[in-house]
Amino acid sequence: MARAKITIVGAGNVGATTAHWCAAAELGDIVLVDIPQTEGMPAGKALDLMEASPIMGFDSNITGTTSYAETQNSDVVVITAGIPRKPGMSRDDLLATNAKIVGMVTEEVKTSSPNAIIIVVSNPLDAMVQRALQVSGFPSNRVLGQAGVLDTARYRTFLAMELGVSVEDISALLMGGHGDTMVPMPSCTSVGGIPITRLLNEERLEEIVQRTRDGGAEIVGLLKTGSAFYAPAAATAQMVEAIVRDKKRLIPCAAYCDSEYEVGGYYVGVPVIIGAQGVEKIVELELTDQEQSDFQNSVEHVKTLVEKMGTLVAG
Ligand code: LAC
Repeated sequence: MARAKITIVGAGNVGATTAHWCAAAELGDIVLVDIPQTEGMPAGKALDLMEASPIMGFDSNITGTTSYAETQNSDVVVITAGIPRKPGMSRDDLLATNAKIVGMVTEEVKTSSPNAIIIVVSNPLDAMVQRALQVSGFPSNRVLGQAGVLDTARYRTFLAMELGVSVEDISALLMGGHGDTMVPMPSCTSVGGIPITRLLNEERLEEIVQRTRDGGAEIVGLLKTGSAFYAPAAATAQMVEAIVRDKKRLIPCAAYCDSEYEVGGYYVGVPVIIGAQGVEKIVELELTDQEQSDFQNSVEHVKTLVEKMGTLVAG
């Protein structure tokens, strides 16, 4: 069987680190692509990473380029292109600039890799993935966004730190948009099978949820010159793996929901089954009143952002 071909658009911190995790896990051959002005940089990072392969023991051809010709017929395309936020900025402040960038990238992807599955990572995530769907015209199972795996990983990290247990024993789910409106699901969080509500009181759990909501900003505040990349890239690589190995992972992702959860045609974080076809199933849970109202609030936020993007893109 041929190796999967994985294109990563944007050779910045998130893109290059996604290439690193994907290569280390031998997920396929990787093409790192960036804009013409970066001439040499994607090729340099790709070659450097490939030269690590004899030491780390992975077989993957990694190339870097500024032309989409080399990305032809990719199986998976990860879009990380866009500007990151600076301290004090919200993800939403990136809307106008990144909608243009993601739109242009998607045009290229549509022609060079018409059968690919697109994973969008650029922010503001829920709007950017909608942009990729609009411009590509791909079926919605082949256009999805990375956010839920990252948010849930942060949540699991903080819970493990709090309880002094292995991160491996924490299973959790967060829904809703990537940002301040993410929806915690204590009923879907457990530690070694024990419901979280039996280990932590409501107040402490809420503090941990709040730290998770602010997780991206916490890193931006520390780095000062950009946003997080190790964990966002690891989360993206997990989604790539679910696709190229047809793993049927049940993980939270930004998926296009129409009748599902009565969202009405927007991207929002929901539990999905990811396999070779991309989003193979959106898992619909019955929500409690609180979860339902938090989720609705999140959807409204995404809708506002998408509508604003519509006027910006048209104007
Ligand atoms: C974060 C940015 C990448 O959450 O959205 O770190």
